Amino acid sequence: MPLGQRAGDKSESRYCGMEVLDFPAGEELPAVLSQSLSSAFDFLLAPLVDPGYRPAPGAVLPVAASDLVLSPSQWSSHIVGKISEWIDLDSEDEQLRLDSEVTLKQEIAWASHLSLQACVLPPPKRSSCANYARVVNHILQGLTNMQLWLRIPLEKSEPMDEEHDEAKNNSNMTVTVDSWVWWNSFRLLCEHSSQLCVALDVLSTLPSMNSLGRWFGEPVRAAILQTNAFLTNSRGYPCLSKRHQMLLTGFFNHSVQVIISGRSNHNISQVGLLSGDENHTEDTSVRHALGPYLEYIAYIYQRMDPLPEQERFEINYRDFLQSPLQPLMDNLEAQTYETFEKDTVKYSQYQRAIAKALVDRVSDDEVSTIKTVLMVVGAGRGPLVRASLQAAEETGRKLKVYAVEKNPNAVITLHSLIKLEGWESLVTIISSDMRCWDAPEKADILVSELLGSFGDNELSPECLDGAQRFLKPDGISIPSSYTSFIEPITASKLHNDIKAHKDIAHFETAYVVKLHRVARLAPTQKVFTFDHPNTSSNPSNQRYTKLQFEIPEDTGSCLVHGFAGYFDAVLYKDVHLGIEPNTATPNMFSWFPIFFPLRKPIHVPSKSPIEVHFWRCCGSTKVWYEWAVTAPSPSPIHNSNGRSYWVGL
Ligand SMILES: C[S@@+](CC[C@H](N)C(=O)[O-])C[C@H]1O[C@@H](n2cnc3c(N)ncnc32)[C@H](O)[C@@H]1O
Repeated sequence: MPLGQRAGDKSESRYCGMEVLDFPAGEELPAVLSQSLSSAFDFLLAPLVDPGYRPAPGAVLPVAASDLVLSPSQWSSHIVGKISEWIDLDSEDEQLRLDSEVTLKQEIAWASHLSLQACVLPPPKRSSCANYARVVNHILQGLTNMQLWLRIPLEKSEPMDEEHDEAKNNSNMTVTVDSWVWWNSFRLLCEHSSQLCVALDVLSTLPSMNSLGRWFGEPVRAAILQTNAFLTNSRGYPCLSKRHQMLLTGFFNHSVQVIISGRSNHNISQVGLLSGDENHTEDTSVRHALGPYLEYIAYIYQRMDPLPEQERFEINYRDFLQSPLQPLMDNLEAQTYETFEKDTVKYSQYQRAIAKALVDRVSDDEVSTIKTVLMVVGAGRGPLVRASLQAAEETGRKLKVYAVEKNPNAVITLHSLIKLEGWESLVTIISSDMRCWDAPEKADILVSELLGSFGDNELSPECLDGAQRFLKPDGISIPSSYTSFIEPITASKLHNDIKAHKDIAHFETAYVVKLHRVARLAPTQKVFTFDHPNTSSNPSNQRYTKLQFEIPEDTGSCLVHGFAGYFDAVLYKDVHLGIEPNTATPNMFSWFPIFFPLRKPIHVPSKSPIEVHFWRCCGSTKVWYEWAVTAPSPSPIHNSNGRSYWVGL
């Protein structure tokens, strides 16, 4: 039974499982499952094989009776297989290593036979786990649907061993190992397989928030919450520290499901009886020992704010890679215009900016004598024409509007809009590319929305350079400037989706994507700025920027799969509009971020800055970006000469 009804949330995180600690022999498994399901757990993490088993010639795998004890749908919907924990593929003991390999393969084969969705692999027993990864990699080559979740403790304290000279004589000393490093080396050895995921063991102590944040960009499928990570509230019930609660909410928001593990440390029936609490004196004979932990997890889930309506609408776009629009080279479709036009926030920002510009342009004394010439360049189906006329009405300024649009299909709709609204005397429609239109007069105000997720990536600079010819020398451009921003991110899902194309071109392409399972590793930085009108002595739209990102020290090392890109536009004076996370315009949904991938993810050791270069290059028929990392290690220059991705002029 799901943890709760959170409107719009259909992610896996609604389901909560429990770990079965003992091997349920024979007919016990159906009973254990039925008791857990009736206690509102959704699935079990259960051992499949007697842990006492060691392979021997002719030995039959001692499974929990046959596959017939559960129905096929019960196996696949309610059981996650737990691979035997004794398995140690990097042991010094050769026999143990060989037995481990045979057993691991046998158990996975059995789990595949049962059509389980996933199996949890035991944590690596040591930091060097190449043989373990090699065997898992073999297995992954042959798996079709099943995922393997490598179990990794969120924080790992290890006694110092003989490798640590200083501690040789002090066996009490421990070091904290960054367990992300284990995961990273394991997945690198397994070539970033998309079927290799993570199950994180959440213990009573947690590393820093920055270090935890890295996991949100990794394929974490489950958080295994140990009962001893829980505290006890004043009434004797299990609860979690504030930091654990925040982490749990983070997991829920990143579609990670919880599995409760361990023995109960809270005897609730006794607490209820002793404290005389009438609400908590149920019959313990029917109460699951882990029930109070599940209730607490459900409480945290239900306490979360409902997903905002827009977020619900966009849920299917999460981490879905889309090619950016090319509104200059292509003609947009009606459906695309319709989506734009739903974003009332965007148009009200424009209306505010236009109103301010009109008031600055024409003083109150001049309103009856001066008519402002305003040109909407790239008018689409007319929403900015409407915003302009509304701004004129609001401010009492007279307006003459030209609506310039190069898409002949949108022009048809523009004509019918003007007729429908009775704006014939106010608006002149020009069916032309703004770069070659011979305007009959000059404009006081030029209004455009030619912005892409990265600001200039839909060629607003090139189009507005063309339109600037018919802007009065003291005329106003709305927007007056826009700036692009980037930040390094971990995004293993996006990386794997691009890798699936098996070519370089897809790694040299920028994508529009609603980022979801990503870790943002450092604050955003500005990349390119364009000002309009362009009065610079060098009118070129080519740009080059070198940036250094410092990852917070307590993050530890991390893997960068690419750069998330955003923009912010100054429409007029203090009216802005954008998607840069720190200043994003609330409730505006016209733009998702852009993602610039890296062909090979870059490992960034702790405290090492990332140096990245971005170029905006212009040719006679196209504009394109090139990008490269030079520190901590060099990447190739991506998209050299626009060979894989470009925007047509
Ligand atoms: C992003 S859409 C915005 C449309 C509309 N202003 C809105 O907000 O819904 C950009 C529009 O500009 C048009 N456009 C792009 N480049 C143009 C050019 N060089 N000349 C005229 N129209 C252009 C496109 O056809 C498209 O209709």
